[in-house]
Amino acid sequence: MNEEKLLSQIDKNTLPMHIAIIMDGNGRWAKTHKKARVYGHIKGVKTVETIVEVAKNIGIRILTIFAFSTENWQRPKDEVDFLLDLICQNTKRYLPNFMKNKIRFKTIGKTEDLPYRLINTLRDAQRKTEKYDEMILNLAINYGGRLDILNATQNIAKQIKNEGMNIKDIDEKTFSKYLYTDPLPDPDLLIRTGKEKRISNFFLWQLSYTELHFSSKMWPNFSAADFYQAIIDFQRRKRRFGRL
Ligand code: FPP
Repeated sequence: MNEEKLLSQIDKNTLPMHIAIIMDGNGRWAKTHKKARVYGHIKGVKTVETIVEVAKNIGIRILTIFAFSTENWQRPKDEVDFLLDLICQNTKRYLPNFMKNKIRFKTIGKTEDLPYRLINTLRDAQRKTEKYDEMILNLAINYGGRLDILNATQNIAKQIKNEGMNIKDIDEKTFSKYLYTDPLPDPDLLIRTGKEKRISNFFLWQLSYTELHFSSKMWPNFSAADFYQAIIDFQRRKRRFGRL
């Protein structure tokens, strides 16, 4: 079905408020095109551009993209350097566009371990867009679901030890406040491209009631139409949150 037709099927009143994306398949896309893996990442940036634009246009409030995981450091150094540099360059390149479109840029993850230049670029983009609220583009970078939970646990333990926090006060709401995602709501929809059906240490706590959509398209081939289809698929589901 074409893009226009799919778009007309989306009910603007029941949009997922927060969509999270695992952008998988850049390397395999490059391989099928007989190119080095890095070309897949370059092509992947174009898809990011398209999806951010269409998400904003249809009224998605929060879009989280998983750009670099805590496990990605284990890739060859050349690829790691290339990826981090690509993220740095493109964050800089998009900044005027974020400002023009009133997109607030945020990051989640252990950003303090990233190269200094990248930390500065990310900070600058966050600072210059902090007053915008039409859409949040949330970049998960040096992020891992287990790291997030461990980090929260350590900070809560510090509060107990040093600030007299009461153990009985640790409930789901309090725990969530210590996660990188605070104060964002949990994702309503998770999209993973690239055929694999797994979470790969992305949001673990936050996905408890998220609807999952797996696309067989490699990320560089994922289109606006595929994004609309994922939303239509989401809107056809009945979310019960454990109730009847
Ligand atoms: C997965 O493909 C993709 C990534 C690890 C990174 C994707 C990151 C970007 C496209 C940068 C976007 C950020 C901005 C700010 C523009 P893979 O290499 O795991 O693919 P494979 O599974 O086919 O090997």
